[in-house]
Amino acid sequence: MSTGRVHAKIALVTGGGSGIGRATAILLANEGATVIVSDIDAHAAEQVANVIRDEASEAEAVKLDVAEESAWMAVIEGILTRHQRIDVLVNNAGVSFAKPIAETTLDEWRRVLSVNLDGAFLGTKHAIVAMRSRGGGSIINVASVSGINAYPEASAYGASKAAVRHFSKIAAIECADAETGIRVNVVTPGGVKPRCGSRWTSSGSWQPNRAERTKRLRGWRAPHPHTSSPPRRTSSGASSTLLPMSLLI
Ligand SMILES: NC(=O)c1ccc[n+]([C@@H]2O[C@H](COP(=O)([O-])OP(=O)(O)OC[C@H]3O[C@@H](n4cnc5c(N)ncnc54)[C@H](O)[C@@H]3O)[C@@H](O)[C@H]2O)c1
Repeated sequence: MSTGRVHAKIALVTGGGSGIGRATAILLANEGATVIVSDIDAHAAEQVANVIRDEASEAEAVKLDVAEESAWMAVIEGILTRHQRIDVLVNNAGVSFAKPIAETTLDEWRRVLSVNLDGAFLGTKHAIVAMRSRGGGSIINVASVSGINAYPEASAYGASKAAVRHFSKIAAIECADAETGIRVNVVTPGGVKPRCGSRWTSSGSWQPNRAERTKRLRGWRAPHPHTSSPPRRTSSGASSTLLPMSLLI
């Protein structure tokens, strides 16, 4: 049942064309927001906006590649022109792939970092500029348990999500210190179907084989928090800690 918690708010959701972004956009609309559903896949965004409109709620669809600063500027300017404000930003768009570090190319690494981390940075930056002169707002960055626990074959993804968490804390402190009225929070999902990474770009530059991907994901072991596994011993008896430790000095 709707409680109207975001009644008449203007909310922008990135990666809203599928998965968690789609569900978030529909939920925000059910709770009373006018939702701008954005995605690099304009068709997927339009389909979700149609679902929302079919339920007699307000929605618009826009194409947005979160890794492109000029695209962010154009989308936010358009929202301000049409609605005079933006109240909520959900930085949800994300991509991933499963590969050992030694097989990961620099282009693959950079693509994940640019969508997941640059995207969160650019969205947060331009939302702060748009929100602070209008009394505040709410920015929600979607991280992942992969940014807390270490999973094999998820180096770029895990690094990007760990960075999103830390970046968001800094953004929250900056916004509070400057008394902007802007809240910055992080959502850290565990495994939610469908997992992200169904595609990288609208041009389809990387399309994982779903069956192979599912097999790999099922084969993932339990999380590897560095506190949960005792150091292994080599045959000489020396401690060979396989998992990283952070020293705070
Ligand atoms: N599904 C999970 O298990 C899970 C777990 C933890 C975190 N997350 C995070 O949740 C978010 C959504 O994941 P999901 O599983 O719903 O993924 P998904 O693949 O179902 O949806 C991601 C959406 O982002 C869009 N997208 C991809 N690149 C983009 C870009 N450059 N600009 C704009 N949009 C782009 C895709 O077109 C797609 O619609 C991601 O940030 C992901 O890292 C997901």
